[in-house]
Amino acid sequence: MNNTIGMIELKGRKLVLGVTGGVAAYKAAELVRLLGKAGADVHVVLTEGGARFVTAVTFQALSGNPVWTDLWDPRMDNNMAHIDLTRDADAILVAPATADVMAKLVLGLADDLLTTLCLARECPLLVAPAMNRQMWENPATRRNVAQLAADGVALLGPGAGEQACGEVGLGRMLEPEELCEAVIAFFQPKPLAGRRVVMTAGPTFEAIDPVRGITNSSSGKMAYGLARACVQAGAEVTLVSGPVALPVPAGVEKVPVRSALEMRDAVFAALPGADVFIGVAAVADYRPVTSAEHKIKKSGAELSLTLTPNPDILAEVASLPQAPFCVGFAAESRDLDTYAEGKRKAKKLPLIVGNLVQDGLGGDDNQVVLFDEQGRHPLPKAPKPEVARAIVAHLAALLPVS
Ligand code: CTP
Repeated sequence: MNNTIGMIELKGRKLVLGVTGGVAAYKAAELVRLLGKAGADVHVVLTEGGARFVTAVTFQALSGNPVWTDLWDPRMDNNMAHIDLTRDADAILVAPATADVMAKLVLGLADDLLTTLCLARECPLLVAPAMNRQMWENPATRRNVAQLAADGVALLGPGAGEQACGEVGLGRMLEPEELCEAVIAFFQPKPLAGRRVVMTAGPTFEAIDPVRGITNSSSGKMAYGLARACVQAGAEVTLVSGPVALPVPAGVEKVPVRSALEMRDAVFAALPGADVFIGVAAVADYRPVTSAEHKIKKSGAELSLTLTPNPDILAEVASLPQAPFCVGFAAESRDLDTYAEGKRKAKKLPLIVGNLVQDGLGGDDNQVVLFDEQGRHPLPKAPKPEVARAIVAHLAALLPVS
């Protein structure tokens, strides 16, 4: 379960969910629950085939709305279900979408409520294919997929894996969590489209011996949330991450590392072609000069550790001749403006995100102040995904035109 989906991310959105006749229809029930949890108002349209797999009662209970199956449903005041249902909808999502319904959408057929709604709509159409591998690979489906994309339909998936028929391959519907994420991402503006972002995240771990080390309590939540916001804004994201226990956001490439030196190497390996570098990691400022090959045994004597400074990864990247747009983070316990702006100048950064740690850590909301060449920009206190998006919007506006 992806725990990054916030309660408010689809708030105020009306979605029509078309469920067609594939085994994956059982996953549509969970999808309705997740979309509702993210704040969406979900109206399910069940095809005859879909109703063979899951009943309308299930969807009604999970969505809290009546379920529609019939073009001639007398419950609609004016008998115009095919228009009324999508009149103020933000999108139609067909999940699962069988090969058959995709073919109908390509042809513009309208022989049931769902296909009629799709033809009569003004809102975007998202389709999550679900079918057996051979059906997905069939030239007819290939043509239909290409035509749907050309018609501006958003295709979500499919994924690869074990299929209901026992085969393994492409054609599986994406998991409900992945679909919910994709729907949230669909509604986000794309100011980072075509941009590559490299980020650091989490703590580093500086080994003392094979079982001990110096680290800190950074959870990585801010960095992982920001990586997700960057992907949703259209960027390609590489996340060089110290040890944290967080799920990797959809679409993010994670490079796991342990020490600051490993983190620096991984950052420099990922940097060519990057437009933006964001240092969010709480990099240990020092590491032991030597790391013992074997576990250090207890003795009665005092033990001293000699520490040596770690490289400042962000400052090194920012001082490259062709440096990407560099963003730093400054979590301070006092004098935020002085320390954050001081770090921005010292590390030669166009942008730094400052936050007072007593305000932010742990909770669902966060409050940050952005410092750039223009000055100080406090962002309103807001749920963390919203703060991440505001940071992304601010940095995207400062990027040189590519
Ligand atoms: N940073 C980095 N490499 C380091 C130390 C910090 O890339 N060795 C980056 C962090 O990811 C962050 C910014 O620099 O974006 C500021 O980190 P912070 O630890 O607050 O600053 P320091 O320069 O280490 O200052 P201090 O610990 O004294 O507050």
